[in-house]
Order: sequence, then structure tokens, then C-alpha cells
Amino acid sequence: MPTLGAVAPPPDAPFLRACRGEPGPTVPVWFMRQAGRSLPEYRAVRGEGSILDAIRTPDLATEITLQPVRRYGVDAAILYSDIVTAVAAIGFGVDVAPGVGPVVERPFASAADLDRLRPLEPFEDIPYVLETIANLVDELGDVPLIGFAGAPFTVASYLVEGAPTRTWTKTKALMHTDPELWAALVDRLADQAATTLRAQVAAGASAVQLFDSWAGALTPADYERFVMPASAKVLDAVADLGVPRIHFGVSTGELLPLMRQAGADVVGVDWRVPLDAARARLGADAVLQGNLDPALVVAGADVALEGARDVLRRNDGHPGHIFNLGHGVLPETDPEVLEQVVALVHAEGRADAQPSLLDGAGAQP
Ligand code: CP3
Repeated sequence: MPTLGAVAPPPDAPFLRACRGEPGPTVPVWFMRQAGRSLPEYRAVRGEGSILDAIRTPDLATEITLQPVRRYGVDAAILYSDIVTAVAAIGFGVDVAPGVGPVVERPFASAADLDRLRPLEPFEDIPYVLETIANLVDELGDVPLIGFAGAPFTVASYLVEGAPTRTWTKTKALMHTDPELWAALVDRLADQAATTLRAQVAAGASAVQLFDSWAGALTPADYERFVMPASAKVLDAVADLGVPRIHFGVSTGELLPLMRQAGADVVGVDWRVPLDAARARLGADAVLQGNLDPALVVAGADVALEGARDVLRRNDGHPGHIFNLGHGVLPETDPEVLEQVVALVHAEGRADAQPSLLDGAGAQP
């Protein structure tokens, strides 16, 4: 649903350039959860109630998406939405409880529940998301907009558990005791994520991120067997769109090669794996996003800036680096510290190392 007059960001926008791993003058930076409760301007406009209501209000969702771009001067915007927007829109009975996360009225438990997961029709089911994106493309100008979807595993885990979990016991029980039903569930969610992402790009998003936030709860063997085919289906389904595909999860140190192999152009790395170690696992040509520990930002400017310098040092001028936190901005974050992190990354970050000289460096057989 592109709007007349909307201008796409230039292909040499720093964020898009880095996603392709091409050398440039600066290291681009944005933050997962850059919109949200850490910003006073967010708290001022957000109102009470479910985040899904805010997402269903395009003028509000547009404003909230723009707030961190204005304040921080980040190199990309991320659509204000949620990983459960689509599954809520088809009527599965999901809400997002403030301070808790996604909660499900009747969790997914048997084959009959597959009937509650009909295909997503973007123009009928999520027209407000497409309208928000069209608004944003007009407002953002040169700044690329990142669209996103929840990966099949992470969304399935909410549907099966019914609420946030620390153990994923029901999810793991389902995948191991009824692998066929599990495969059918994640296949439907893969189609839904693919449809969501294709619609977001058609509406004007310049990149997509697949959030498999909780995939790190799995062994590599279980990830490969039960999760990777569905995530690969999503990433393959958007490969022809020509936009960078970012693939991110938390505690995924052991899964990074598989997550890249699933079809990622950019691999998101949490703070537990130093960036140089991540690149050693993935090969010198890997494009990485991350990975300052969000807790270090809460610890204050001195600690945050030292942490940011360490991330830049470990990247060592590699052109394929998008600076980010290792997970989302924590609500208690002082936005002024993030402003200083952005300034530091822009002033001190280097993205000028020649990829040809990096060939083989750090790559492991
Ligand atoms: O700025 C951005 O990053 C864009 C917006 C965004 C939100 N959710 C808004 C939001 C994005 C990219 C998401 C994705 C999302 N949602 C993920 C993947 C990213 C990650 O953090 O790993 C997950 C796991 C969810 C599910 C979810 N939604 C959780 C766990 C919560 C936290 C509950 C809480 O209140 O602390 C939410 C709610 C949510 N989604 C908020 C925001 C800004 C919290 C604030 C609010 O309700 O206003």
C-alpha cells in the first residue's frame, strides 16, 4: 500500500549499506525496543490498556515509532507493533498484559486448535499496520524502516504456554511428544510471518527482522529439527524482495551458525557472545548486529560508553556491523545515556576495513 509521493530511503543509507557488508564512513546504530517506556514522550502519549490498542491506532503508532528517531538520531526506525499482532488479529485470543507480556485465553493444546490459526489476510486483518507504515515512509525520509515478525518458535511458545515462561516445558513437551502437530503449528505460523513481512515490505519497510527471541532455550539439535525449517521458510519467502533479513534471538551463542544458515543476511547477537567470537563462529564475511548489554546502559554513562567502545573494538572496523544492544532497551534506562551511546558510535565507529583483507580472518572450518 505505498503512498503517492513517498520516497524510499537511498540504498547507501548507512544502515542498508552495513546490512550488505559494504565499507562506509560510519557505523549505523539503532536499538531494539528503542520506542517504549524508557522514553517520557512515550509514557505521555501511550495511555492505559493493551499495547495492541495503541498498535491499532495508526497516528499513535506512527508517532511512537518516530519518537526515538527524533531523540537519538538513530539510523533506522523499527515499526511499533508486537510479535503477537498478527495472531491476535486473526482472533486467536491473545493480549499483551502490561508488565507481563503476551497472554492467551485458550492456549494451543491439540490438533483442533489448528483451526483457530487461519491464514492472515493483511488488508483485512492488519490494515492499521499497513497504514502506519505508509505514514512512516512519508515521515522518515532517508531513514529506513525495519518491519518485523515473531519467528514461528517464539510465537508458538506463547500460544502453547499461554503466558511468558522461563522453562518452555509445555512447548518442548509438544515438540517431542507430537512432532507432527508441532510441525503443523510452526508451519502455519511461518506462513503468517511470511505474509506479514511481505505486506510490511510492500507498504514501505526497507528491512525485516525475524525475532526468535527465545530460540536460545533449545539445543542445536532440537533447533535444527523442530524450528529451523519453519524459520527458513519465512526467510526464504522474503528472499526475493531484495531487503535485508535480520535474524535475532537471545542466548543463541550455540545456534548462531544455524540461524545464519536459515537464511539471514544479518545475524543478531546478544551480549553473551563477544562480537569477535561471534564472527569467528560465522566466518569473516558475517554481517552482525549488536551487542551492548542493555544492563550496562542502566549502570550509567561511564559504564555504557566503555561497553560500547568494547563492542566497536571487537568489531575492529568490519563494514558489516550494525550497532545495537544485545536485547531490548530496559524500561529503567536513562535516555540521555543512549543519546551518548549513539554519539559515540557515530564519532568513533569505523566501517572502513576492506572486506578482501578480512577474508578468512577468524573463519573456522
Ligand atoms: O521499539 C521497538 O523495538 C519496536 C516495538 C516492539 C514491541 N514489541 C513493542 C512493545 C517490538 C520489536 C516488539 C517485539 C516483541 N514483543 C518481542 C521480540 C523482541 C524481544 O524483546 O525479544 C517479544 C518477545 C514480544 C512480546 C512482548 N510484548 C513482551 C515480552 C512484552 C513486555 C511486557 C511488558 O510490558 O514489559 C511486550 C509488550 C511491549 N511490546 C512493550 C513494547 C514497547 C511494552 C510497553 C507497553 O506495553 O507499552
